[in-house]
Amino acid sequence: MAFEVEQVPLFLAPMSGVTGLAYRLLARECGADFTITEFTAAAALTRQDARSWLKLESDERENPFIPQIFGGNVDEMVKSCELLQEKSDIIDLNFGCPAPVVTRHCAGAALMGKPDELVSMVERCVEASQIPVTVKMRLGTGNGLTNALELAKRCEDVGAERICVHGRTLRQRYSGEADWQAIAEIVQSVDIPVIANGDVVDAKSASDCLAITGAAGLMIGRAAIGRPTIFHQIKSDLGWNNSEPKWADMEFSDEMHETLSARLWAWKRYIELDRELNSGDSSKNRLRHAFSFTKGLPGGKAFRTQLHTNREAKHVSESVEEFLSNLVSNV
Ligand SMILES: Cc1cc2nc3c(=O)[nH]c(=O)nc-3n(C[C@H](O)[C@H](O)[C@H](O)COP(=O)(O)O)c2cc1C
Repeated sequence: MAFEVEQVPLFLAPMSGVTGLAYRLLARECGADFTITEFTAAAALTRQDARSWLKLESDERENPFIPQIFGGNVDEMVKSCELLQEKSDIIDLNFGCPAPVVTRHCAGAALMGKPDELVSMVERCVEASQIPVTVKMRLGTGNGLTNALELAKRCEDVGAERICVHGRTLRQRYSGEADWQAIAEIVQSVDIPVIANGDVVDAKSASDCLAITGAAGLMIGRAAIGRPTIFHQIKSDLGWNNSEPKWADMEFSDEMHETLSARLWAWKRYIELDRELNSGDSSKNRLRHAFSFTKGLPGGKAFRTQLHTNREAKHVSESVEEFLSNLVSNV
């Protein structure tokens, strides 16, 4: 494939229920340059909720470590930054989440509808933190003017060190297409790095998104669910990386064989990491990954129906491995 775009860092998007520590480390091994925890409520962190703190576990292999927090209360956000900074390299503030459970407390993307409050929250978090603070936002709420550009400039003015923009509004949630042109305007209007996010699914979309936005990095979400090797694939297709992938210890008969072998390698490695860490990456996450790793594959639907009958973690791990191994040997 011939794409001519300069290399930029690739980010695994923060995804609740998906990007636990084991999956983040796996994504790193598969070529992701940056990983960010799933969002965690500042309200829960400040009342020392153990389950929320579990979500913010890291490991020396995850460097830099970037926890993401959200909340509608400035004091709780500031306190969370203070509590987190010692164990973190960067703190990311979420102004992009469209989930009603978040937006009804005027947190996540809903704060984009209260620009002064959002900017003041960023300013206070920056002041309270000895480490860089970054921001992830959408294009706006979708009600009234799209204000990401104005907000990006104001966040830069109060000290945010990087901004990631998902090219959709809150109202759009995940519908329609990400507006890369709108991200381009933000890239041109601020001096801090802007990371483009939304609908990057392969080398072609990565290259198109970079050509349009001129962004300093790309963030990949849904396309990396069940396919952590996408990071290596994109880098290799764009000529950014000539190293042999970790799963290439055999000759591949065709592209399908390579895809399946990569999927099998990644699953086995995910289970290894999950067992080793024995961390907050719950069996719920493991089941979710079992579903996504088998999505779109021949016989996958029947396999997943079967999986529902026994959700025990060991059974899930072994069944997925067997399912993928059979596919690899039968191509
Ligand atoms: C299952 C799921 C969970 C998500 N959780 C978060 C989250 O915790 N924090 C966040 O900032 N964005 C979250 N997002 C949004 C993604 O980070 C990303 O912005 C969005 O999926 C668009 O990128 P994509 O088109 O590459 O998927 C989530 C998205 C999905 C699909």
